[in-house]
Amino acid sequence: MPQRDGSAALLEVDGVSLRYGGVAALDDVSFTVGHGEVVGLIGPNGAGKTSCIDALTGFQPIHSGHVRFEGRSLDGTSPHDRARLGFVRTFQSLDLFDDLTVHENLSVAAGTPSWRSTLTDALWPKRSTHDGLDEVVSLVGLNGLLHRRPAEMSNGERHRVALGRALVSRPRLLLLDEPAAGLDTVESAELGRLLRSLPERGTSVLLVDHDMALVMAACNRIHVLDFGRVIASGTPAEVRADRAVVGAYLGTSEGSEVGG
Ligand SMILES: Nc1ncnc2c1ncn2[C@@H]1O[C@H](COP(=O)(O)OP(=O)(O)O)[C@@H](O)[C@H]1O
Ligand SMILES: [Mg+2]
Repeated sequence: MPQRDGSAALLEVDGVSLRYGGVAALDDVSFTVGHGEVVGLIGPNGAGKTSCIDALTGFQPIHSGHVRFEGRSLDGTSPHDRARLGFVRTFQSLDLFDDLTVHENLSVAAGTPSWRSTLTDALWPKRSTHDGLDEVVSLVGLNGLLHRRPAEMSNGERHRVALGRALVSRPRLLLLDEPAAGLDTVESAELGRLLRSLPERGTSVLLVDHDMALVMAACNRIHVLDFGRVIASGTPAEVRADRAVVGAYLGTSEGSEVGG
């Protein structure tokens, strides 16, 4: 599915189905994420949002359909290779190393330089990983917290560590699974501003979250899943006005949080 200008979308999900035994978690799901977009993926509990991130990142094999990245098929590509192409995800559980410091958590994601990259950097100096790390630390507001351990931090701070760790490698596509869970309204609004700023750093975003204020403010486009199927796609205004979406998910309490 080409974009309006005829170029390939950054990510193209084409008729993807995923099953766990007899349970169809995704059923013929198709949507795109364009270059420079922040795209929302919403829907009730059990709709298949996490399964969709698992399928896109290669953590779960798909039963049928195709995933393409910049027009290139990812069929048979491992999670590791997808990460190298620039897919980075976060987990609902955050998955931090609680015994390491914040700095160590971020450094692990930045990767250990090989002798080859060390030699290349010496011959042709470029921005070092540490410049990138410092930039991310400022971006997610972790200055002054680098020597703390996640175990002793607040929920909001832990979320920022998880986001910072995901951003260190400058992903092309960041897939976020409920990054606002447990954040207060101020923290959630800050997260929204941060996500909006990522496309200009070269990172497009697929955002799964129940915080409708965040999703509506941060996303250019939204896809709605229900029972593993896409029931609506459009701009935030279009999705908010969609009767099927209101019936399945939003109810009448527009802008409020929908259960976790
Ligand atoms: N590992 C699994 N094994 C079996 N069923 C699963 C597994 N993970 C999810 N499911 C089922 O797949 C469906 C979609 O789940 P999930 O993708 O976690 O939804 P969401 O993230 O939208 O809440 C649900 O019916 C869920 O019970
Ligand atoms: Mg989920």
